[in-house]
Amino acid sequence: MVKPDRRVVRAFQRRLLAWYARHGRDLPWRRTRDPYRVLVSEIMLQQTQVDRVVPKYHQFLERYPTLEDLASARARDVRRLWYPLGYNIRPVRLHQIARETVARYGGRLPDTAGGLRNLPGIGRYTAGAVLSFAYGQDAAILDTNVRRVLSRVFIGPRRARRLRGEKAYWDLAEALVPPGRAYDFNQALMDFGATWCSPRAPHCTPCPMKRFCASYPVVSCSSSKSRRR
Ligand code: ADE
Repeated sequence: MVKPDRRVVRAFQRRLLAWYARHGRDLPWRRTRDPYRVLVSEIMLQQTQVDRVVPKYHQFLERYPTLEDLASARARDVRRLWYPLGYNIRPVRLHQIARETVARYGGRLPDTAGGLRNLPGIGRYTAGAVLSFAYGQDAAILDTNVRRVLSRVFIGPRRARRLRGEKAYWDLAEALVPPGRAYDFNQALMDFGATWCSPRAPHCTPCPMKRFCASYPVVSCSSSKSRRR
């Protein structure tokens, strides 16, 4: 069990939101709260870089602007439009989700974790993303980038090596969501992980978390090489 200090939690929340106000990316799926559009973006972003997703996101929504449009499309056409994003089970699942949502929920994506996770291919991450980004709920998210940030800041390299499984990370992610701010906080966590607290050359020197980060400075950080060998 990882139980971070309350003051550190508050400092992390405050600093991350301030960082996001300055450095957050302007991405097309951040200009909508439409659950369908949020879902399309999150499924496209699984295992795929943001730069590759942006043009396909626009193209896909131009062709299938609503969940009903997608539900009534032919599976073959949906798969073809998805190409060349790869990892091709995703369009199949997205299409099934659209059909099931129309058949069972009148075309409105569920707004509960249980309802979302009953749909094909929606796991805990995607459910958390839809709940926080589309429905404004205080739900947590955890993907590879977020896990790395939480591991570095709150756990540190030695304890992280001994920590098995995802439960401790999910518990931590849930404990960190600031009430009423899950949308910005979760988007911020993703940007911070992707662009600053990156795997190989994190920006440790200007990092707003360095005062309490359990890994500072990360051995490979972009300016630590002269200090640490
Ligand atoms: N990766 C997964 N979801 C994302 C989002 N909403 N913004 C940026 N990168 C992401």
